[in-house]
Amino acid sequence: MSSASEDTYFPGLEGVISNETAIADMQGTEGQGGLAFRGYAIEDLAGKVSYEEAAFLLLHGDLPSKAQLEEFGGRLSSARAIPDPLVTLLKAVPEGVHPMDTLRTAVSVLAHYDPEVNAPVQDHAANVRKAERLIAQMATAVAAAARVARGQEPIAPKAGLGHAANFLAMLNGADPTEAQAEAFDLSLTLYAEHELNASTFAARVTASTLSDIHSAIVSAVGTLKGSLHGGANEKSWEVLQQVGEPEKAERWIQDALARKERIMGFGHRVYKTGDPRAVILKRHCQRVAAEIGDDRWERIAEPIERAVTGQKNLPPNVDWPSARLYHYLGIEVPIYTPIFAMARVAGWAAHVIEQLDNNRLMRPRARYVGTPNRAVRPIADRG
Ligand code: ACO
Repeated sequence: MSSASEDTYFPGLEGVISNETAIADMQGTEGQGGLAFRGYAIEDLAGKVSYEEAAFLLLHGDLPSKAQLEEFGGRLSSARAIPDPLVTLLKAVPEGVHPMDTLRTAVSVLAHYDPEVNAPVQDHAANVRKAERLIAQMATAVAAAARVARGQEPIAPKAGLGHAANFLAMLNGADPTEAQAEAFDLSLTLYAEHELNASTFAARVTASTLSDIHSAIVSAVGTLKGSLHGGANEKSWEVLQQVGEPEKAERWIQDALARKERIMGFGHRVYKTGDPRAVILKRHCQRVAAEIGDDRWERIAEPIERAVTGQKNLPPNVDWPSARLYHYLGIEVPIYTPIFAMARVAGWAAHVIEQLDNNRLMRPRARYVGTPNRAVRPIADRG
């Protein structure tokens, strides 16, 4: 195996190809950026397949038949309830802990109760089953933790509801409308997978040591939390709230750009011409805003988007519209990033399994820039 020259240095690993993958394909700079899950363009998947179908595609390699989808839905449904000790633990989490920290703990605890926790780490079939259980249970854990944080009792999952509707029902205590469930389901599909983003890379690095799938997903949750990655959907909402009124948006963004502020929800390491997920989700935000008869946040978002895209050549990423969509669905801001995680777990798991199926330890090099060749002086001589 050839190795890169010690002189080759790519800060932030920008442009480095560290893996081959058959899971997602991203085109970052040609026309409107492109994204495909296992060869299916995101534009063809979004709104046409459910999150369950997208998750099955990512884990199993192809879209499910009707029978396969029913069986998959059945497996998710049976796995959806979380263990009682986890609920007890969620109630013991100190007040004010960020829900991403709670979720990181929850995933770790889910490992202890997984029926195949001791299966060999490279057992493909067991890993797929663990991944399916994680997809089902992370959503339940996010909803339960959110209710506990509000001082409410968690609500058990409901048989007969799909993944998106089940989450909203567990969160709110009432079944969502069809339009709400559809819009939320679409956002989960758009978040489900995104090639070698920082959290997926973290998951693959963990798996590459022949650690287990739950440990890899814990690494991913911790990595997604940061505001340069998944945490940006929460921060995007803060931007909209700071502006507050459509009439103030133009002035606000010009001042922020003059101060050279980083505008959350804009820019992307790979997509330089636009994030296709943001384009799709923006249309749905506009539709849902029209349905609820409140276009205030769309009117705030528009001038900001125009200015950042036009003046800085930084189009919005998916976190920009998702923050508005989740607001329209009445979801509290601190769980925006956990929702991203409970959707992305399908992609994370697919990558972890791909890594474990054809593993090579990930161990890059660093260029040493510290002081060289120092002599060790006895402690008595060090002053
Ligand atoms: N607002 C203002 N300026 C920006 C932004 C932004 N959102 N993003 C990049 N820039 C500027 C930087 O200030 C820098 O300018 P300079 O060269 O004058 O110093 C230049 O663009 C390059 O910035 P980098 O951070 O080096 O570019 P990188 O490729 O690492 O950026 C990143 C990718 C981290 C996503 C960046 O665009 C960013 O911080 N965006 C805001 C956070 C965000 O929305 N993250 C979500 C990403 S998508 C996701 O995880 C779902």
